[in-house]
Amino acid sequence: MADETAMSPAQLTEQVVAAYADTPSPRLRELLTALVRHLHAFATETRLTEAEWMAAIEFLTATGQKCDDRRQEFVLLSDVLGVSSLVDVINAAAGATESTVLGPFYRPGAAARAMGEPTGRPEDGDPALIRGTVTGLTGRPLAGATLDVWQAAANGLYDTQDPGQPPFNLRGVFTTGDDGRYHFRAVRPVSYPIPTDGPVGGLLAASGRHRWRAAHIHAIVSAPGCRSVTTHIFDADNPYLDSDTVFGVKGSLVRKFRPAGPDDPADVSYVAEMDFVLAPVTGSAQARD
Ligand code: BEZ
Ligand code: FE
Repeated sequence: MADETAMSPAQLTEQVVAAYADTPSPRLRELLTALVRHLHAFATETRLTEAEWMAAIEFLTATGQKCDDRRQEFVLLSDVLGVSSLVDVINAAAGATESTVLGPFYRPGAAARAMGEPTGRPEDGDPALIRGTVTGLTGRPLAGATLDVWQAAANGLYDTQDPGQPPFNLRGVFTTGDDGRYHFRAVRPVSYPIPTDGPVGGLLAASGRHRWRAAHIHAIVSAPGCRSVTTHIFDADNPYLDSDTVFGVKGSLVRKFRPAGPDDPADVSYVAEMDFVLAPVTGSAQARD
C-alpha cells in the first residue's frame, strides 16, 4: 500500500541524489551529488518560496542574455559572489606567488616589449616603474620568464572600453634575462568600477555593495616548465583593499608605490617592487629548483 504521509524535504533530496547515483564518471557523480545536496539544503534552510525561485531563474536568464563575445556576465556573477576567488584559492600552488582573478579585460596578443619600455602614453597616468625578479620555488632566477601585463588608465578604463586609447594601450609582454630580473614602465594604478549595466549591477545595488576594484596592475607570469600565475600587483595606499568588489585582494600581492627618489630614473614618479615565484608543472624536473 502507498505511503500516504506527506513527503519531507529530506526524503525528496535523497530521491534526487539516488537518481544521479549511476552517473558513470566518478567525478561528475561526486559533483552532481554535492550540487543537489547543497542546492536542496539552501532551499530547505531558507524555506525558499516559488516566487523567489522564479525571480532567481529570471535573474540567471538575464545574466545569460547579457553575455556576448565581449561581455561575460556569468564570470562577473562568479566574481562578485567570490566563487572565482574561491576556486583560485582552492587550486593555489604551495609556495608560489598567489594568484587572483583574470577579469574580463585580458587580451592575448599584446606586443613583446623591450625591458623598461613603457606600456602606455604619458597621458595615461602617473608614470611608475615596476621591477623585480622571477624565481623558482628555491629562489633560482628564471631566465626567459614572461610577464604579460595590463591595466586601466587613470580614467579607470581599459583600452577595450575606451575609444580614446589605442588598441593594446597599457599592455605588454616582458621577458626576463639570465638574472630573472624584469622592469617596465607603467602608470600608478587607480580604482575603477566593474561594469554594472547588467544583472550583476542590480545585484550589487540590491545588496548595498559598492562596485569598485582595488587599484591593481594585472600580470600573467609564465616560464618554461612552470605553472603560470595569473595575478595582480595591488597599490598599498588604495582605499578599496579591504572591500574589493570581486574579493581579489591577497595581502601578499599588495605593494607600496613609493615616490621616486634621486636614485630612480628621472622619468618616473613612483616605484614598486614585486618578485614572482613560480612552481614547477607537476612532474617537471626542469623547474623543480
Ligand atoms: C579586472 O580586474 O579587470 C576585473 C576583474 C573582475 C571583474 C571585473 C574586472
Ligand atoms: Fe583589472
